[in-house]
Amino acid sequence: MLHILVLGAAAGGGFPQWNSNSAACRRARVGTARQATQSSVAVSCDGATWYLLNASPDLRQQINERPQLHPRFGRRHSPIAGVVLTNADVDHVAGLLCLRESHPFSLYATTRVHAALRANPIFGVLSPACVTRHELAPGEPFRPVTGLEIEAFAVPGKVPLYLEDPQAGPGLGTADGDTIGLRIADAASGRHFFYIPGCAAMTDALADRLYGAPLVFFDGTLYRDDEMIRAGEGAKTGRRMGHMSMSGPDGVVAAFAPLGVRRRIFIHINNTNPTLLDDTPERREIEAAGWEIAYDGMEAIL
Ligand code: MLT
Ligand code: MN
Repeated sequence: MLHILVLGAAAGGGFPQWNSNSAACRRARVGTARQATQSSVAVSCDGATWYLLNASPDLRQQINERPQLHPRFGRRHSPIAGVVLTNADVDHVAGLLCLRESHPFSLYATTRVHAALRANPIFGVLSPACVTRHELAPGEPFRPVTGLEIEAFAVPGKVPLYLEDPQAGPGLGTADGDTIGLRIADAASGRHFFYIPGCAAMTDALADRLYGAPLVFFDGTLYRDDEMIRAGEGAKTGRRMGHMSMSGPDGVVAAFAPLGVRRRIFIHINNTNPTLLDDTPERREIEAAGWEIAYDGMEAIL
């Protein structure tokens, strides 16, 4: 059995974002829209030992809000046995700093992502005496604990914002291993799902991998590629940030249409994305196309 728990459905900044005075963020502040913390999912095969897929800056709040992640035994305990990172973006790694306090756990990431963490001395608070760092080799499934199988695979993405190199050409220094997707399986039953919170394009290889999948959580950062510019809330397109958008001819909904994925859930949703609100035409359109919008506390069992 595979337990899946959405800890945070929003993209970087969360919903509401601290400095956004948009109508949507104001609604989230007064409670007429559901708030969302930053991008993370927890998985478990037995409901007792959990692995975090990304560690968001909101991790402390996320743990407090989810009883599954509370300590249960003795004076010091945590059901969190490990963290798997899909990139080194701030919204996916800053929560590691909440996991100090000399507690043992395993940290899985690609060579590139480990290098980004190593280059930043603040992550040294995760002492090697407690935190074991494992290199993820894309395409090689591994079992962090009996019963749980994880496979990382490369997806098109972008180097983290704080490592962008404008001299390095259009890719800004992006290299293999900067962005991965994960296939998570219950080794006993073979039941599995995919978690891909950041993806810049649908490639043939990715489409083949996802074809007929039972469940995919996928990058839902923006609804329209230029929505941040149109809203006056940013200068960048989704493409520039390394994200596909939900809508449009080269958007996620169109790319998934021929793939026969049984359950499709958007995650990592930016606070400018109108589908975060449950009463917008865009939300109705996405749902009519067979997609769900993740929310904090959403659970699935496979
Ligand atoms: C992204 O997903 O594009 C990044 O998290 C953006 C950021 O670093 O704020
Ligand atoms: Mn992000």
